[in-house]
Amino acid sequence: MRTDLAALFIIFGGSGDLAQRKLYPALFNLYQKGYLKEHFAVIGTARRPWSDEHYHEIIMTSLAGFEADETVKKTFASHFYYQSHDVTDAQHYETLKQLAAKLDDQYQLQQNRIYYMAMSPRFFGTIASHLGSEALLTADGFNRLIIEKPFGRDYDSAKILNDELTQTFEEDQIYRIDHYLGKEMIQNIMALRFGNGLLGAVWNKQFIDNVQITLAESVGVEDRAGYYETSGALRDMMQNHIMQVIGMLAMEMPVSFSAEDVQREKTRLFKSIQPYTPAEIKTNFVRAQYGETPVEGQTQPGYRQETNVAPASQTETFVAGKVLIDNERWCGVPFYVRTGKRLARKETQINIVFKKTGVNIFAPDKNDQSAVAPDVLTIFVEPEQGFALTLNGKKVGQGFELVSGQLAYQYNQQMLADSPEAYERLILEALNGDGTNFTHWRELAASWQFVDAIRKVWDADQTALPTYPIGSMGPKEATELVQSTGAEWIFDPTQSK
Ligand code: BG6
Repeated sequence: MRTDLAALFIIFGGSGDLAQRKLYPALFNLYQKGYLKEHFAVIGTARRPWSDEHYHEIIMTSLAGFEADETVKKTFASHFYYQSHDVTDAQHYETLKQLAAKLDDQYQLQQNRIYYMAMSPRFFGTIASHLGSEALLTADGFNRLIIEKPFGRDYDSAKILNDELTQTFEEDQIYRIDHYLGKEMIQNIMALRFGNGLLGAVWNKQFIDNVQITLAESVGVEDRAGYYETSGALRDMMQNHIMQVIGMLAMEMPVSFSAEDVQREKTRLFKSIQPYTPAEIKTNFVRAQYGETPVEGQTQPGYRQETNVAPASQTETFVAGKVLIDNERWCGVPFYVRTGKRLARKETQINIVFKKTGVNIFAPDKNDQSAVAPDVLTIFVEPEQGFALTLNGKKVGQGFELVSGQLAYQYNQQMLADSPEAYERLILEALNGDGTNFTHWRELAASWQFVDAIRKVWDADQTALPTYPIGSMGPKEATELVQSTGAEWIFDPTQSK
């Protein structure tokens, strides 16, 4: 249902890349769809001394990809105000408060406020404290804080940040963004699991052999080495996106489809993940870097050759691992995960691999399982979106041979055109006060604790990282990890295409 929502957005980092690439287009989509009409305004803050006029030009540039009428874009941009802001200067919050109050009157915003932290994470705590101490929060409307990743760089720093935020905001006012939770097919996992009795019945260790999650990227570190060098794939992708995907795939059915119940189940799940000893981490997790690779006669730079990367950097650009869950539903079922930069292609894919039949009556040797492919449920997250169930059937013709076939359901372009982009979806959910697809502090705490243990072992181990060729699916160690339990990575674009 479309309603005209009223809110003031105060964006910290209003001149930044995220705001321009994601937030302004997302807000414009909400505007075009009628969720935002007359009663919204945006204050963009950043250090640069911009005028409102210049800010409007920036907004217009960020909407360049939209086919909409120029006057519609200009009217939308007229709701934007810029304030040059030093996040450590209390006086600036006073100016911000006055501008916010003025816009509240002017646009009848009902004192509803969304504070959006889209800038360097080292300022998140300072901003939240000042919002409290300078009394920016309103008494009558809602006050919600949307906060970008990274939320800390380990459990301890995340806890400090959380303590700072919760001095001003209650837990249910804090919307920690993980943009994977805004993706159509990640949200669809709940529909598949809890909307189908058929799948619900087999979603457990009795029927599932292993689960595979791949978040592959073809791009390298690009111009983000400054951040990435301090992060690496483990913190950048595993702690947040991959853990959340595991949560969606493995949690118990929530009592209801509410933020409280969904977050509770994910938290329970994260607490059931088997903690590894240092020795187990070495056998169950693999890290690597993309190396210099000749491609069509030209040498492509490896990670260590990228701008702003230390020549002897030990930062991993690839991580693969086996995650085990100690609960009744999942004990013994490996969740294989992997993510990396400069891989064969950009694709996010999940494969649920079912156990084979116990006996193969079609082979001369009934115990010969090699001719039977496992049934696999594939969830295509991106770029293709949809799902497929791979089953065995009879090969057409004389004789009796098994052959795999797919029941596939791909969303077509027209359906996807209506599907909101992750940021658009999540901002609307925050506007509606729905935190279901945001991360609770307890989930975050548990996932940091899991990741910290791995980080600690890796940081203490100065052995040179294995490298993998650009365009591959990672180092051989990642293949061996899965093969060690008799499985194979189902998604292998280096073989199929
Ligand atoms: C971000 C990471 O969170 O996710 C990036 O910081 C990564 O390094 C990106 O490229 C991947 O997101 P998506 O939606 O393109 O899969």
